[in-house]
Amino acid sequence: MNEKTRGNAPILEMENVSVDFPVKGITAFFKRQKISAVSDVSLRIEKGQTFGIVGESGCGKSTLANAMIGMVKPTAGRVTFKGKNLYELDRKSFKKTRRDMQMIFQDPFSSLNPRFSVYELISEPLLIRGDATEEEMKVRVEELLELVGLAKDDIHRHPSDFSGGQQQRIAIARSIILNPDFLVCDEPVSALDVSVHAQILNLLTEIQGKLGLTYVFISHNLAVVKNICDRMVVMYLGKVMESGLSKTIFQNPRHPYTLALLSAVLDTDVEKEKEQIILEGDIPSPIDPPKGCRFWQRCPYAMEGCKNVPAPEVEIDPDHYVACHHVNGFPKTDLPEGYDRPVKSEEKEKANMPHPLKAEENVEDKTDA
Ligand SMILES: Nc1ncnc2c1ncn2[C@@H]1O[C@H](COP(=O)(O)OP(=O)(O)O)[C@@H](O)[C@H]1O
Ligand code: SF4
Ligand SMILES: [Mg+2]
Repeated sequence: MNEKTRGNAPILEMENVSVDFPVKGITAFFKRQKISAVSDVSLRIEKGQTFGIVGESGCGKSTLANAMIGMVKPTAGRVTFKGKNLYELDRKSFKKTRRDMQMIFQDPFSSLNPRFSVYELISEPLLIRGDATEEEMKVRVEELLELVGLAKDDIHRHPSDFSGGQQQRIAIARSIILNPDFLVCDEPVSALDVSVHAQILNLLTEIQGKLGLTYVFISHNLAVVKNICDRMVVMYLGKVMESGLSKTIFQNPRHPYTLALLSAVLDTDVEKEKEQIILEGDIPSPIDPPKGCRFWQRCPYAMEGCKNVPAPEVEIDPDHYVACHHVNGFPKTDLPEGYDRPVKSEEKEKANMPHPLKAEENVEDKTDA
């Protein structure tokens, strides 16, 4: 059993999903390069669960979430929502299914059209669906304003009249007006003032309880994930490094990358005697990533074999999966001599140099929505 085959029937399942983005132009040796934003990710999300995706900026969290809700077509693999392959649905069924899957973004201000009133913003999805009268829409918007902690009188105001936290409340109201089952919260508090983080997180939890929603909760902040998520995946450079129940991962983190992320969080339950790892350097470019473990350039335990031998996720304890040769041992295949020699730190430093092609500046935009 793994993250893919565990437990109750899932609401959403991903099987071996990869998302590549092409890099503009052709490089030396006429090789067309690609950004491997998500690579071979399998997971399942159960109904009513809050499923966390954590990792540093650029590790593929948003791309993975976009692939879940039909906004970025995977290059390979399968996404199944309520038993149906999302990318094999006909246009009409896809549109209908997409209404059950909504998203809240990091920056509420840029996700809300400043020219629209609160009423227009929140009711727009209902207006597009086209089956409600003006009066019904008004009643529904008022109900939602109350649910998200805003006043009925706010209905004719505009986004710029509100604070960041209040704007996020408007965005939340808009995202649930069609009664979705599945809500992706992509860093919903990262752009907000710290003083309102707890309020927005509490609101999301309250709404989940009232409406029975399934959440995917994306964050680079482990402290936030710890309090909110039932299960989580830790991602690095497009790959899952560790997955399982959040409680298990916080109590017994095993992947060197998870340990490093936790080292940066002061308030954790991680045993104090556990070795602390401070990560140096930034997440490398996802253009032509290593064939083996994608974390080797920054891993304190990296061995020669880690560079070329992929590290699959292995269930190390019941319902706890880790992708690391240091934890699981190398597979018993034809390994070259010296595969278990530590990688020299000078080599890691050299490999940590920025890639000559910077991903952000050389991509063709392939986002569908
Ligand atoms: N639409 C896109 N076109 C090309 N490259 C993209 C696109 N979206 C994301 N990427 C690249 O994919 C990688 C993962 O990005 P993203 O999923 O946004 O990471 P995160 O959400 O973890 O910060 C990054 O290198 C990013 O530049
Ligand atoms: S597989 Fe090797 S490089 Fe990757 S995390 Fe484990 S020890 Fe480090
Ligand atoms: Mg993101």
